[in-house]
Amino acid sequence: MKSANSMKWFSELDFERLPMRISTDRYTSREIQERERELIWMRVWQVAGRADELPNAGDWKEYRIFDQSYLLVRGSDGKVRGFVNACRHRGNALCQGKGHTARFTCPYHLWSYGLDGRLLAVARPDLVGPIDKSQHGLLQVPVECFAGFIFLNPDPKAAPLADFLGNDVIEGLAPYRLEEMTPVGLNVRQSLDCNWKVVMDAFSEGYHILGIHPQLLRVIVIDSNKNRFGFFGDHSVAVAPFEVANVEGFGPEKQIEGIRDLPETFPTVAEVLPRFEALVQAHRGADGTLQLPERVTARILLQQATRDTLSRKGLDVSGLTDDQMSDNQGWVLFPNFFMTIRAGEATVIMSVPHPDADPNRCIWHVTSYMWLPPDLRAQYRAELIEEPKDYKYFLALQQDYEQMPRQQRGLRNRALEHMSLAREEVCIARFHSVVDRYLGGKAA
Ligand code: FES
Ligand SMILES: [Fe+2]
Repeated sequence: MKSANSMKWFSELDFERLPMRISTDRYTSREIQERERELIWMRVWQVAGRADELPNAGDWKEYRIFDQSYLLVRGSDGKVRGFVNACRHRGNALCQGKGHTARFTCPYHLWSYGLDGRLLAVARPDLVGPIDKSQHGLLQVPVECFAGFIFLNPDPKAAPLADFLGNDVIEGLAPYRLEEMTPVGLNVRQSLDCNWKVVMDAFSEGYHILGIHPQLLRVIVIDSNKNRFGFFGDHSVAVAPFEVANVEGFGPEKQIEGIRDLPETFPTVAEVLPRFEALVQAHRGADGTLQLPERVTARILLQQATRDTLSRKGLDVSGLTDDQMSDNQGWVLFPNFFMTIRAGEATVIMSVPHPDADPNRCIWHVTSYMWLPPDLRAQYRAELIEEPKDYKYFLALQQDYEQMPRQQRGLRNRALEHMSLAREEVCIARFHSVVDRYLGGKAA
């Protein structure tokens, strides 16, 4: 990534400037949630959908945050626009859900609007009297696309999205070609009994692998000193090496066995294994013994196999480093977008406050993305499942899903005034320092 210089090692972080004590009322207080609503959600760029949900002119969907409702629509010029979902006559909500239309006609008294929001016609103008149509178009809100995501900002005076994201984020994510990725296998949105920030916290640290994902210990090394961090404006990225645990102590055959086991926990590694086996085979002598040249490790062969496999599929990986072939980068785009990404795939987790405004609830949306050749995208596309009953996530995600309401139950106890963060959880501290800046307060 361009920002390699702005990435820091754990030992270079300044913990004195980070809030390591976090007040608990921010997860339970209606008053604080109300402040978040005004000072964060009504002012900040937020992901409201994917551009490929609205492929054609006239495709539209509703986006809600708290009790506010917006309409996203692709215009005849190909541009996605956002409007307040309220008729300019007497305020009726124009639509809900998603659909396709040539114009929006309000069902109440039949005023109609173009895809660009202009008021086209009113029913029975003789009953309406004189009206300046140019002053009664739908109210527009800023909408921009980045990396295939549609961002919306409820604040009509918002600065451009690029200013909010900043160059480090934009250039750091560009080589992955996220805008060409498709939801595959997992695309679920459902209510959760925890505050929206509990979700953000849960995916910002690896410390809890010890407690609730013991199966991951075989492949994920929890060692802060091996991780690098980038704090870019309101956003952050943490990079942890992805390799077979205790790799230093293993001989090459053991390392290779470890890689073969990866698909059990990381299914997408399976597509890379045939090429990996071929590369390993090339290093075997006539008697079958493995002779890896100095500095060639199983990790390096995995990176090479990933690059070869993805290139053969048609993905241009020329902008990605070897580390990006194997290592997950964990991005947090403030306020509510978490993504773990490596070459060819990403998983995105977003949480929003629940529309019922109870701070003890939220809605999370988890989606796995994969880069597929264009002709396969429609076939493998995972359509959104909303509020499923008894849905089972893949093992690690299911463990998180069950954990988060348990934390919320503990946080609700009034006698517990603050949480005490471990240093490994530095990204949580950083996230809350941004929350505090928006709210104009202090962490604890
Ligand atoms: S409220 Fe929409 S036409 Fe009357
Ligand atoms: Fe987890």
